[in-house]
Amino acid sequence: MARAIDPIGIFDSGIGGMTVAKAIKELLPKENIVYFGDTAHLPYGDKSTAAIQAYSVKIADILIKEKCKVILIACNSASAAAYELVKEYVGSRTKVLNVIDPVINYARERYQNTTIGLIGTKQTVNSNVYKKKMDHLANNLELKSLATPLFVPMIEEGILDGNISQDIIRGYLTKQELSGIQSLILGCTHYPLIKNQIAEYYKGEVDILDSSVIVAEALKGYLEFHMLQNKQDGPKYRFLVSDYTRSFEELTRLFFGEKVELQKYPLWE
Ligand code: DGL
Repeated sequence: MARAIDPIGIFDSGIGGMTVAKAIKELLPKENIVYFGDTAHLPYGDKSTAAIQAYSVKIADILIKEKCKVILIACNSASAAAYELVKEYVGSRTKVLNVIDPVINYARERYQNTTIGLIGTKQTVNSNVYKKKMDHLANNLELKSLATPLFVPMIEEGILDGNISQDIIRGYLTKQELSGIQSLILGCTHYPLIKNQIAEYYKGEVDILDSSVIVAEALKGYLEFHMLQNKQDGPKYRFLVSDYTRSFEELTRLFFGEKVELQKYPLWE
């Protein structure tokens, strides 16, 4: 039985999911959080569906052991590849959420007869999960998508502004695959960090949908509905990783907004 004081379990292929953890911390400042970054296996964006499923199930086990009241798959690639399987595997032990459904619900409530763009990793885009889910809506939404794999290493190197990033952003966004869109889903943990640069490129003509914020709102709604919002002050955060390096720890500053200590998960080899 889930309790309000139990932590929210968040997992990602690495440190990028901390953009989602940050949005959750800002919206739900009393919630305890256990974060798991599978730094030994990143990036997930180029991995096979089977590999991502195997890693995700193993991580779900860890978060169940941590008594998480909900497991949020913060990684878009893992949400696309492994959500259904993880949900089935976890069963009634805890609730599993992903970062795709809240964005689909958001689009359903706001858009009709329009063209929506999606950018993400190869895994996310090639899975066609967004398209399948959108086709189920009665809103007549057309989805145009493009894998933008250079964004992840670019952002991790801290190349957010200046000529190099502008050229890469423009190079992708001018592609035919994204022509005529009226809104754009940032379908990757890393992209909130270049949200302003992307918005600047479109000069206000395209709505930019930041999934980290939309997902945090959806999580809040879920906790409220099930009366699982933590009321106690002094939230605890723990950040577990499958492989520790100092540079991963440095990256937390970029993605979480402050440097936090990473703990190597002992049972992960
Ligand atoms: N976390 C991944 C995602 O949101 C991006 C990084 C990776 O490929 O592992 O799709």
